[in-house]
Amino acid sequence: MKAVAIFNNKGGVGKTTLLCNLAAYLSKNHGKKILVIDADPQCNATQSMFSDDEIDDLYDNSKTFTIYSVVHPLSLGKGYSEVVHPMHRDNFGCDVIIGDPRLSLKEDLLARDWSSAVSGEIRGLRTTFVFSELLARCQQYDFVLFDMGPSLGSINRACLLSCDYFVSPMSIDIFSLRAIENIRISIENWRKNLGIGVKNVEDENDFPGNAKREMSIKFAGYVTQQYTAKTTGKGEKRAVKAYERIMKKIPKVIQDNFVSHLQPKDNIIDYALGSIPNLHSLIPMSQFARKPIFELKAKDGVVGAHFAKVQESKRLFGQIAENLLNNVEVLG
Ligand SMILES: Nc1ncnc2c1ncn2[C@@H]1O[C@H](COP(=O)(O)OP(=O)(O)O)[C@@H](O)[C@H]1O
Ligand SMILES: [Mg+2]
Repeated sequence: MKAVAIFNNKGGVGKTTLLCNLAAYLSKNHGKKILVIDADPQCNATQSMFSDDEIDDLYDNSKTFTIYSVVHPLSLGKGYSEVVHPMHRDNFGCDVIIGDPRLSLKEDLLARDWSSAVSGEIRGLRTTFVFSELLARCQQYDFVLFDMGPSLGSINRACLLSCDYFVSPMSIDIFSLRAIENIRISIENWRKNLGIGVKNVEDENDFPGNAKREMSIKFAGYVTQQYTAKTTGKGEKRAVKAYERIMKKIPKVIQDNFVSHLQPKDNIIDYALGSIPNLHSLIPMSQFARKPIFELKAKDGVVGAHFAKVQESKRLFGQIAENLLNNVEVLG
């Protein structure tokens, strides 16, 4: 099992859209067993995969298993929740641990217990690695994909500490370049502080079984999103002029931050997993139908030129999925 965070310290760059479609593509076209964990308190991945009626029923029932059920027992001093109850989504071919707005109430707990983890306290390490403990119960999957909000706060730190890889969707603007730098600075900091915490642990025998001794997350690639593509005279797709400068800078910013600072060794890898154009009305169609974009049909509202766009999206998500599988293989 490999755990992959779909993460960027910038909102609205297509993280959730990529995650839902990638989950479906890896399951349906590569036969992978996929679990989606909606760790964003905004719950957009959950909303993309469950109908409004289903959501009403699920959140009306206090027994429904959500991401909150994973973290909450720790605040009560009850230890980890032993059972995991994901739900299955036929349309996306994957299982899901649904999101929960109450997860944001745990930001403080995770922040406090991170300080305690850095001091070498076992309780702090146990809370900090709550998602590693969860993942230990999810070994039957090939991939676990985490959807996350855009912050560099304690919930996302806990997710990134537990994941094996992260993939960053990004828009082509200066803020995305800054976000790359922020992520690198934060991960370096967390790595250092975890190292201090591990050294401070008094009795090795107490070290929580599924906590990590180092932050081992690797960068598996990036996906550029939603630039306005124009066709040149030769029929090639090109980003419009306003974006070209930024587009050119991305590989170097990725190299200088993620590759040279975070990667374990210099593997020859193409980190550009793919580039997704503006898919216009296919996006709300897929949200409404609760289906992957690449499986939209006439009954979902697809007409005329949209069919070619659906096919194009299938090719694009296919390319991203294959590049990701390849990078994960090379990175080990
Ligand atoms: N390829 C695309 N073309 C057009 N709109 C998109 C595309 N991908 C995402 N969107 C829209 O952009 C917004 C942000 O996407 P989302 O996946 O929710 O980003 P994030 O999870 O990073 O906040 C959403 O309203 C979504 O519907
Ligand atoms: Mg999102």
